[in-house]
Amino acid sequence: MDEQAPAPFYVDTSRASIARVYDYLLGGKENLEVDRRAADAMRNVVPEVGEIAKANRCFLRRAVRFLVRDAGIRQLLDIGSGLPSDGNVNEVAQAIDAGVRVVYVDNDPVVLAHARALLAVDEQTAVVTADLRRPEALFEQVTALGLLDLDAPFAVLLSGVVHHLSDDDDPVGILAAVREWLVPGSYMALSHFLDDGKSRAYALELAFLHGGLGSGRFRTWKELGGYFDGLELVEPGLVYANDWRPDEFTLAESPVHTLYAGGIGRKP
Ligand SMILES: C[S@@+](CC[C@H](N)C(=O)[O-])C[C@H]1O[C@@H](n2cnc3c(N)ncnc32)[C@H](O)[C@@H]1O
Repeated sequence: MDEQAPAPFYVDTSRASIARVYDYLLGGKENLEVDRRAADAMRNVVPEVGEIAKANRCFLRRAVRFLVRDAGIRQLLDIGSGLPSDGNVNEVAQAIDAGVRVVYVDNDPVVLAHARALLAVDEQTAVVTADLRRPEALFEQVTALGLLDLDAPFAVLLSGVVHHLSDDDDPVGILAAVREWLVPGSYMALSHFLDDGKSRAYALELAFLHGGLGSGRFRTWKELGGYFDGLELVEPGLVYANDWRPDEFTLAESPVHTLYAGGIGRKP
């Protein structure tokens, strides 16, 4: 095999993919019929489900602006980065400081293939295929890449990815392993589906789990709070995602306001 050629990968087009369903909900074009069917199962339960995806992108952009502009972070590790979309992390960060380095990680090789277009635009952005369910291997792969210095403060972004870990995956243990890698002065930004105790959250979780996608856990405030153990929460804390330092693009009256939470923690 040609050593220079990208590693071959197989795309199972018979199954919905998280990245493509998300792309569809955001109004993108990188999706298949099987993805649209899974998204429609969600829409049957909560017609405004696409607003969660949009609110999440907005939260992510606000989080990146805070980290780079206010917290002075110059290294970002975006785990579960997804397909390129409007306002990608490297674009938002490097618009504030061109020197910010960004490593995108996703376990879907299709994301790697699409992100090559991003790689072509600057040398401070890289993408790797790795799985959050094996955090040690993931961080070792990122270290070996050499773009980020993980002995200096950095921020790890976990935007819309941890809810795709099942309870059997042990998200508490995985998040603890991720936090172990944070040196003092580092940050962790997290957004996640929220079980606010109402039937809509439960019904939507069933649609995510059994309507074609196969993942998407809605977890309680208590469960999400535990993911920040040992970190100091940045104001306003762990809150409904749209309440986290809203800007002029944040919907004050979103119909999915209570279904999504977000927060940023700092390693003391
Ligand atoms: C809903 S998208 C979020 C994309 C982006 N972070 C955002 O907030 O706009 C979730 C992404 O996480 C990826 N993902 C899911 N499970 C993962 C895992 N175990 N390891 C790495 N990536 C994962 C999916 O392939 C998908 O691209």
